[in-house]
Amino acid sequence: MCGIVGYVGRERCVEVLMEGLRHLEYRGYDSAGLALAVPGADEVEQVKRVGPLKELAEAVSRHNGHFAQVRTGVGHTRWATHGRPTEANAHPHFGGYAGDGANGTVAVVHNGIVENHVELKEELRGRGHTFRSETDTEVIAHLLAERVEAGEPLREALTNTLRRLQGSFAVAAVSVREPEKVVAARHQSPLVVGLGDGENFLASAVQALLGETHRFLFVENGEVVEITDSSARIYTMDGEPVERETFKVDWDPEAVELGGYEDYMLKEIHEQPAALQATLSGRLDADGVVDLSEVVLDLASVERIVVVACGTAYHAGLLGKHAIEKYARIPVEVAVASEYRYADPIGDEKTLVIAISQSGETSDTLAAVQTAREFGGRVLAVTNTQGSLITREADAVLLTKTGPEIAVASTKTFLAQTTILYLVALELARLRGALSKGEALEIGRALRRAPEKVEETLDLLYGRVEEAVELFEEARCALFLGRGASHAAALEGALKLKEISYIPAEGYPAGEMKHGPIALVDERCPVISILGEGLQREKTLSNVEETVARGANVIAVAHKGDTDAGRIARVTLPVPETPEILGALVASVPLQLLAYHVAKDRGLNVDKPRNLAKSVTVE
Ligand code: F6R
Repeated sequence: MCGIVGYVGRERCVEVLMEGLRHLEYRGYDSAGLALAVPGADEVEQVKRVGPLKELAEAVSRHNGHFAQVRTGVGHTRWATHGRPTEANAHPHFGGYAGDGANGTVAVVHNGIVENHVELKEELRGRGHTFRSETDTEVIAHLLAERVEAGEPLREALTNTLRRLQGSFAVAAVSVREPEKVVAARHQSPLVVGLGDGENFLASAVQALLGETHRFLFVENGEVVEITDSSARIYTMDGEPVERETFKVDWDPEAVELGGYEDYMLKEIHEQPAALQATLSGRLDADGVVDLSEVVLDLASVERIVVVACGTAYHAGLLGKHAIEKYARIPVEVAVASEYRYADPIGDEKTLVIAISQSGETSDTLAAVQTAREFGGRVLAVTNTQGSLITREADAVLLTKTGPEIAVASTKTFLAQTTILYLVALELARLRGALSKGEALEIGRALRRAPEKVEETLDLLYGRVEEAVELFEEARCALFLGRGASHAAALEGALKLKEISYIPAEGYPAGEMKHGPIALVDERCPVISILGEGLQREKTLSNVEETVARGANVIAVAHKGDTDAGRIARVTLPVPETPEILGALVASVPLQLLAYHVAKDRGLNVDKPRNLAKSVTVE
């Protein structure tokens, strides 16, 4: 949560910072701000605004070129943790100011939480400091300013300030005393350095800088960075220089643009066939043979699996459990990471921990990985983000390779995470001989058809989802029902709907619905049923009939031409017939589109739903 950027170089500083923030807005959009160090000035310049980045862009444009000469600055986009989204609480925060109206000699931007800010504020007040915001961050600015005013060079001052902080941070600072540099540091929250020619960059994530560079240095916990126009150096907290190899990121800058779509979410839903192609490429051949040799782990000795993840990634874990238990016959526990980290879990070195995180930054998932380390578990990370924190914590990594996902609500990465887990299931089945060779190849060949089947689903759904949207006009809640893998798809469908349309929604096992949730059912609580196949379809159908008898408006996700679905449902969202392994993948697509269209119908911002951020780097 929160995104930070930094730049030192040419006179296009403000432009680079604004473009970087534009690509980080998914991390928070409560407010945004810039701090600019101008040579010869008495104080750091600032602009900040409450609300989305366009408010800041307008404010910047009103400065009529006043910032044209600036070469050094930092920027921030905020997801509020301490203090409401007001201008006073917007970053940057200042220290070393002379009077009420003054900005100050140093400015900081911060992503994370200073846990001991109350004590530090008290201490600083005791030394005569006054505070202008309710944020935890402001203490960093004051501590830093004290040291800079006492004559410490900026990097040393930041290092010494950090020694006083407890919690998590990626922090970047500028000072009028050294206007040719930006200093920064990280502990738990992410930070990367982008390398340019005659200019250098800092950001919370590589996406922010892809239009500028593909060469990065990853900053590790407890390291301090100093960038100027001609150098980018990393140091330990003791001031020792650190050698770091340059990491090349191969994402295309075009991938972070809308490319003609109205929203990123819609674009990403439509990118799913290509995303799955990329996920499978090199890992599953045309004959159905899986190659996961990139996983440098002894998978043959695995006796138990724990999947740790949050939100949508957790739902991908549930689908993975179905496949792993079915094909490889290995017991799988799927744990919500924020619970697992404090659960004192049971495991040993034969436990494989699969940590799933699109961003690779989710603090609860990272903490769950640490917890699993304590009992000797081996960690396989499934992430979309090259070089992210989780890739450095894990023993092995499988990248989902979908390209950047910008919309806050995950879509293409959900399908890709699930697909990766299906590959893992087949690999484990092969290693244990749990499937015959023929069966394994047949399922492998079926999985190869995922891109094609998702494409077919998108074609079938064209123009169909809008009909279902009408049933939500007066809706006060929604119930998503399914059995087996379709239950996991139902949970994900409910999450998508509630997070972007704000309609309370529950995902439930269809057979369990009679034990409580059926009380919700009336004509203002649409029931979305994912029928699935075979016996499960029969059983789900009869559960859904029970809701129809109580006045429910039913939307069925069913094979095209399913006459039973046509009979009970007000609207059928058709999906193609698929091999079993692809059932939940294709069923998820109409649910994504349903959530999308319901939210659009309500005039909501689907890419940036309220109160959410894409990377959840706080507990
Ligand atoms: C929902 C959504 C979230 C994330 C969750 C985990 O659409 O995107 O529920 O899945 O915050 O994020 P990652 O995968 O980055 O760890």
